[in-house]
Amino acid sequence: MKSPHPPIVAPSLLASNHGRLADGAQAVVETGLAWLHLDIMDGHFVPNLSFGPQVLADLRPLSRLFFDTHLMLDNPHEYVEAFIQAGAQQISVHIEPDYPVAETLKYIRDRNVLCGIALNPGTPVDAVEPLLERVDNVLVMTVQPGFGGQKFHHDVLPKIAQIAQWRSERKLDYRIEVDGGVDDATGLLCKAEGADIFVCGTAFYHAPDRRAFAARLEA
Ligand code: DX5
Ligand code: ZN
Repeated sequence: MKSPHPPIVAPSLLASNHGRLADGAQAVVETGLAWLHLDIMDGHFVPNLSFGPQVLADLRPLSRLFFDTHLMLDNPHEYVEAFIQAGAQQISVHIEPDYPVAETLKYIRDRNVLCGIALNPGTPVDAVEPLLERVDNVLVMTVQPGFGGQKFHHDVLPKIAQIAQWRSERKLDYRIEVDGGVDDATGLLCKAEGADIFVCGTAFYHAPDRRAFAARLEA
């Protein structure tokens, strides 16, 4: 089922050189794209560490990129305000950890920032179903989160289809974002099921022609 929203390619800064994150963001600007995906990892919810709100705050004045922030944290509710103040424009939090999820989504929305709910490949789609009316975005992980450069999980495709079907049946308008192992081939499989935001780390930064790569997904 096709999405009602135009497709967006959101390059993941995680796949750029962390000693030159500003250059990684600038590469997205130069490709003519509008969104930047920022992966925040705590070493607990996922077995890796990335960067924190100070990095967003320092990158914020350097471009007009839309900061699409993905919190892979055990306690995201303790950090959403810091990311809002740092310039996040969409914040997606995971369904799996034990914290007040609905309150956290409301907090983000009340601060006029788009809110998303994220789910891991092994999490049944029913887990996010009660929250659909409260979100602007459903972030469907197509790899186990923690590291870039992993292989796309094809068995997640039916979950995307179900989330798109609920969107249509209930006349909701959240976006569906896919993240992990997304390239121009796997991204188009997700698009056919209803996805409309394509997070691309490795595939974007390693593409020989980034404009042509993004154009294939945004077509
Ligand atoms: C994985 C992150 C992804 C990651 C995607 O934990 O959430 O955003 O950067 O990287 P690729 O596109 O390389 O799989
Ligand atoms: Zn991500």
